[in-house]
Parts: sequence; structure tokens; C-alpha cells
Amino acid sequence: MRVLSGIQPTGQAHIGNYFGAIKSWVAQQELQDSYFTVVDLHAITIEHDPKELYLGTLELFATLLAAGLDQDKCTIFVQSHVAAHANLAWLMECTVSMGELNRMTQFKDKGRGSESVRAGLFTYPALMAADVLLYQADKVPVGDDQKQHLELTRDLAMRFNRLYGEVFTVPEPSIPTIGARIMDLSNPTKKMSKSSSSPAGIIYLLEPADQIKKKISKAVTDTDNCVEYDPQNRSGISNLLEIFGVATGKDPRSIAQSYSSYGALKNDLTEVLVTNLAPIRDRLNNLLDDKAELARLMRMGAEKAEITANETLRRAQDAVGF
Ligand code: ADP
Ligand code: NA
Repeated sequence: MRVLSGIQPTGQAHIGNYFGAIKSWVAQQELQDSYFTVVDLHAITIEHDPKELYLGTLELFATLLAAGLDQDKCTIFVQSHVAAHANLAWLMECTVSMGELNRMTQFKDKGRGSESVRAGLFTYPALMAADVLLYQADKVPVGDDQKQHLELTRDLAMRFNRLYGEVFTVPEPSIPTIGARIMDLSNPTKKMSKSSSSPAGIIYLLEPADQIKKKISKAVTDTDNCVEYDPQNRSGISNLLEIFGVATGKDPRSIAQSYSSYGALKNDLTEVLVTNLAPIRDRLNNLLDDKAELARLMRMGAEKAEITANETLRRAQDAVGF
């Protein structure tokens, strides 16, 4: 079974990325033939700062390693380091129709109406199709926001195969093995996201202990001081219980039973997070201190990815008549 997952290097990784995705990727890497990619090509579909992108990509790659992904058990690479992605994306742009791209709701939400919106944001689903198809992935874990794009990837794989011959595995969507859905601490009805405007609601993986304490103590709750797991009616406290649960492997409901005040729960949750994140932060700092080793690991990932990607690209190019 081959699986591909990606993460965008736009903004710093946070506990939502870790407990919701990266932690389960680490568990999965032994069980499946897994490819994990930092999708920097996608990051330039919107305005960006080159230096920030460079450093953000480096840091996110290092973060995946620090969290426990191991280049000997899976393949971790930066998308732009494997030239086949941009190359196959062109073949996909010449397979997809304007009508299909026009129907993508994410583009409608993000880009509609603006003359200056980058063309790459419009054609992004063709690049995403290339990302997946290059590795002949059987399964792609997708959240709700990516379902329509994966549906298009499947259509394009089938169309290409029909027009030019069997080249691509048609991937199945898989429900991501979600550790949890972590909400924003300042606005617990919204998911914690790198692209959120206010950092107060986000706990970054690199967050120092005193900042974690401050952010948890300011996390929005109601004023009832009633520790109860009820995501519908008590989203703030339930989110804290959820984070506590996913970090300790305990059930949020049973955690709720052992607390009778928000303050005590917040203190212990701070401890738990500091203890969970400290080793990741230490490993990350060590990795970032040794840029030569990091560069070696990046090259290693790209070379491993290229073995599969280049073979698929060659077959696709032969098929269209190049
Ligand atoms: P972000 O919204 O922070 O930019 P990405 O889109 O890069 O995150 O997603 C990377 C991975 O992290 C995906 O698998 C996504 O489902 C997961 N993820 C992102 N935010 C959360 C969250 N708040 N809770 C749980 N999982 C999350
Ligand atoms: Na593996």
C-alpha cells in the first residue's frame, strides 16, 4: 500500500498539525510505503516572501524529522527538489479542462473576482494531481477541503489512461487517521491553522514553555468553571480536554472527571504540552544547527522520491508522444 501526504510550508507548524497529522504519520511510516512532502510549489500560488519560504521549508522539513519521521522508514522530500512534479503538472494542465478548474470551490472561495490572482492558484488542482499520480499512490488521506481536488485527480488519471494508455494508478481517498481536530484557542469554533491571523490562538511546535503557559492560561472558555467534555456547547474547554487527551492517550471525558476547575486543568495541560513538545524542540534545534546534515537528508529524500517519480514521468511522456 502506497500513501502520499503533503504539508504546506506557509507559516510555522503547530500542535494541530502535530496531533492531527504528523503524529499519526510517524506511527504509519512502519506500516505503509509512505511519501511525505513539503509542498513548496503550492506555497507560491499566493503572494510570498522568498526568504520566509526558504526558511519555512527548511524548518518544516526538519520538524517532520524531529517529530520522528525517519528517512530509512519512509520518504520525506521537498516538492520543488523533484523536478518531475512541475513537469507532470504540465501534462495534467493539458488533460484538465477550463470548465473543470472553474468548478473547484476552493478557487472560487480564494481567487474569484480578482484579475491579479496568480494563474497557478487556478491550475493548482493539476499540480496536486501530478503530486499524487507520480507516486502511483493507492491512498491519499484528504480532509473535507481537498475532497473535490482528489475527485478531479481520479478523473484526470482515468482520462489520461483512456487517451494514452494505462500509466497511472487511480487513487482512493482515505479518511485521514486523525488524532484530533484541534481548534483555535482564542476562537474555538475555528480550527487552529497556520494561516490564522492571530498567533494567540495557536501553539507552535517550537513554542517556548512560558509562551505555552501564557497561551493556555488565556485560552477562551466560558465562565461556568464546569469541566465537562461537550464540544457542541462548551467548545473552549472541550478543545483543551481534546488536546490533553491526544497528548496523553487518555479519553477527554475521563480527564474531565478528574478536574473541578479550569485553572487546575490549564496548569496540568501546560505541563503535558511542555513535556510533549520539549524533545521535539530539542531535536529540531539540533537539526537546524547542522545544516550540512539537513541538506544531506533533503537530498536523500529527493533522490528516493525521484526513483519512483521519474519512472512515472518517463512513462507518461512516452504515452503522450514526447
Ligand atoms: P494548516 O491549516 O495549518 O496550514 P495544512 O493545510 O498544511 O495545515 O495541513 C497539514 C496537515 O495538518 C493536514 O493533514 C491537516 O489535516 C492537519 N491539520 C491542520 N490543522 C489541523 C487542526 N487544527 N487539527 C487537526 N489537524 C490539522
Ligand atoms: Na514505511
